[in-house]
Amino acid sequence: MIVKNPRFEISAVSKKQYPKGNLPEIVLVGKSNVGKSSFVNTMINRKNLARTSNTPGKTRQINFYNIDDKFYFVDLPGYGFSKMSKKEKVISGRYIEEYLEQGKNVRLIVLLLDIRHKPTEDDMLMYDYILRTNLPFIVLTNKADKIAITKVDVEVERIKQTLGISFSTILPFSAERKIYIDNVWEELEKFL
Ligand code: GTP
Ligand code: MG
Repeated sequence: MIVKNPRFEISAVSKKQYPKGNLPEIVLVGKSNVGKSSFVNTMINRKNLARTSNTPGKTRQINFYNIDDKFYFVDLPGYGFSKMSKKEKVISGRYIEEYLEQGKNVRLIVLLLDIRHKPTEDDMLMYDYILRTNLPFIVLTNKADKIAITKVDVEVERIKQTLGISFSTILPFSAERKIYIDNVWEELEKFL
């Protein structure tokens, strides 16, 4: 897809702030610092439309990016950041659940994992939660630039086994190196 006019629309803290209308939504889910906001920037070829940071916990609200009036990328707060206070964890968890529970326009959930690590306990909880929503999802194993290219397939397969995925797509990704983008667009477009 060639994106021409992506724009930030709203940072929502409650349901009534979600955009009105019926544009399809592709939602980014994953632990803090895994690269959800970077994913958005890379896919739309903008450096800093979505705010990213080295410090986990950058995205605290639900950010909606309008992509050429065709669909939204919805950037959710990350989970599993140990330095978040208990209250902050509860709040970000509630944002994620409140959003996914309504799911009215959600066409696809993109679960981002770190290709270098075994999915964490929080990742597994989130994966189970996603299964229970019955919404379509794919898994992207991000930061593929951090491992040798020859290891990529092996690590993707290992994560696939850990999750027990048999019916859904799992692909490598690198928001940093902008490789694999075409594969991912191809996958996303199936759901739009
Ligand atoms: P929260 O907003 O805290 O939930 O984090 P996030 O998932 O949005 O992560 P973000 O996009 O802010 O990225 C976190 C850090 O990881 C930043 O320093 C990014 O530059 C870096 N990063 C993201 N994707 C990649 C990648 O594919 N490769 C490498 N090497 N670094 C990446
Ligand atoms: Mg973020």
